[in-house]
Amino acid sequence: MALALLARFLWMPLVQLGAGASIASPEPEGLQEAERFLEKYGYLGSTHRGIRPAEFSEAVREFQWVSHLSLSGKLDASTVHQMNLPRCGVNDARSFAAWKERMDALLLGRRAEKKRRKRYSHQSGQWYKRHLTYRVVNWPWYLPQQQVRLAVKAAFELWSNVSSLVFWEATSDPADIRLTFFHGDHNDGTDNAFDGPGGALAHAFFPRRGEAHFDNDERWSLDSSKGRNLFVVVAHEIGHTLGLEHSPVRSALMSPYYKKLGKDFVLSWDDILAIQNLYGKPPWGSTVQLPGKLFARFHDWSQDIEGRERQEGNPSAHYCRSFFDAITIDLEGNLYIFKGGYFWTVSKGGNTTGPELLRTKWPGLPSTIDAAAFSEEDGKFYFFKGGRCWRYGPSLEAGFPQKCSSTGDLPRHPDAALYFQPLRHLVLFKGPKYYVVNEETFQVEPYYPRSLRDWGGVPAMANGALTHLDGFVYFFRNDGFWKFDPDKLQVVASGKWAPQLPWLGCQAVDPS
Ligand SMILES: *[C@@H]1O[C@H](CO)[C@@H](O)[C@H](O)[C@H]1NC(C)=O
Ligand SMILES: *[C@@H]1O[C@H](CO)[C@@H](O)[C@H](O)[C@H]1NC(C)=O
Ligand SMILES: [Zn+2]
Ligand SMILES: [Zn+2]
Repeated sequence: MALALLARFLWMPLVQLGAGASIASPEPEGLQEAERFLEKYGYLGSTHRGIRPAEFSEAVREFQWVSHLSLSGKLDASTVHQMNLPRCGVNDARSFAAWKERMDALLLGRRAEKKRRKRYSHQSGQWYKRHLTYRVVNWPWYLPQQQVRLAVKAAFELWSNVSSLVFWEATSDPADIRLTFFHGDHNDGTDNAFDGPGGALAHAFFPRRGEAHFDNDERWSLDSSKGRNLFVVVAHEIGHTLGLEHSPVRSALMSPYYKKLGKDFVLSWDDILAIQNLYGKPPWGSTVQLPGKLFARFHDWSQDIEGRERQEGNPSAHYCRSFFDAITIDLEGNLYIFKGGYFWTVSKGGNTTGPELLRTKWPGLPSTIDAAAFSEEDGKFYFFKGGRCWRYGPSLEAGFPQKCSSTGDLPRHPDAALYFQPLRHLVLFKGPKYYVVNEETFQVEPYYPRSLRDWGGVPAMANGALTHLDGFVYFFRNDGFWKFDPDKLQVVASGKWAPQLPWLGCQAVDPS
């Protein structure tokens, strides 16, 4: 590779080092963005006529209170970070008042609660019947319908198992509550227009409008592969359709921020208090609660698909109709495509085999991975998951897995990994940055991470990347691919990988 091209990757950091050293003060652009955020989420009135600094500072303080940050009233780094976290698009304006009512009712006892319920319950509304129907109007093309229906059913059950409500699925309209996926602006106001991946993930309306909307530009998931857990977000939005406001309690499902499933119950005491304030306890008295982990996967598609593909010798492998977690290619030109706990192999001639369990070829790997790469330098496979990394050459090497995020400053949960010939190193991609990694030591090379802008036109949050036999580097995200020319350092083509790249073994697949 010519020196001039290497310069873009290696020498520019020196120039940037000086520029980046100045202390960041909120730029006007960041300030405007914060104002828009605070207005959208109900902390500031209309910002059209300009706002006074005191007003702004008060709004920031309120936001900090709800978000459990220190109450500086300033746009400090942790506040800006919090504003950029994925969340629900419903505003937080009444969340404090609604929470205070719940607490007062709890402390003052049932009589006061009844009085209050009369006084306040009209504000967010409630249903005047206990039997409600729901309908899933559409869903992302890459999720099996059966899986979506099971997850939505379980999400409604979370609420019916702790209250007097009962839900039925309706397969056609009318239904009391409708769940719909939309892209961008979808005719319920510019404030409600979806914003692409991240940011607002979904929103819903209070009773008795019965509508919950989900951002179709998110990558949704119902098993443990990458993406936003749809079950959690559906359960949260259902809460709004039943009349619940956001909760300032951090562990609450109705907290505005996106949460992962863990070993705790999905609903917190505050969620249960809120729903029972509106609809009372279950008729049988006690509530039924299960740990979040149990909802981490719905109906193991892999078993189903595995059986069917094996039986029919079906060439249209499951990964063709879905997203994958990671991809790499070895020296012989065999592709490895990873999804969930499985991988497929596509030979240079286009023969597809799989799905096979990750652990059959790479014993010791976790149940899913974030990123994978094969190094042309040493002929070894590298895997990344969370903050850990694994090296196989061909069996798991001594000392692995390692905690690479702490020993080598590697990013946690990398989006994609690639062996990049011109740099003779592994490259990890994470959000807007990339990291050049020494595969001997797992240390990030000096002057990295750097901005993804170096990779002219490559999108952030790729699922995987590889250098194909044709010499181009291919990046994959969801159903799209980007073909990167390592000489021009520029994306030279893009499109949909399943129908357009025959070497991925998906040409026999009907795209629907
Ligand atoms: C609701 O309760 C039923 C009956 O106890 C149980 O089978 C089901 O798994 C529970 N669902 C959820 C989502 O907790
Ligand atoms: C692909 O599989 C078919 C059938 O198993 C076999 O005949 C063919 O030789 C294979 N091609 C390659 C390139 O491995
Ligand atoms: Zn919400
Ligand atoms: Zn909407």
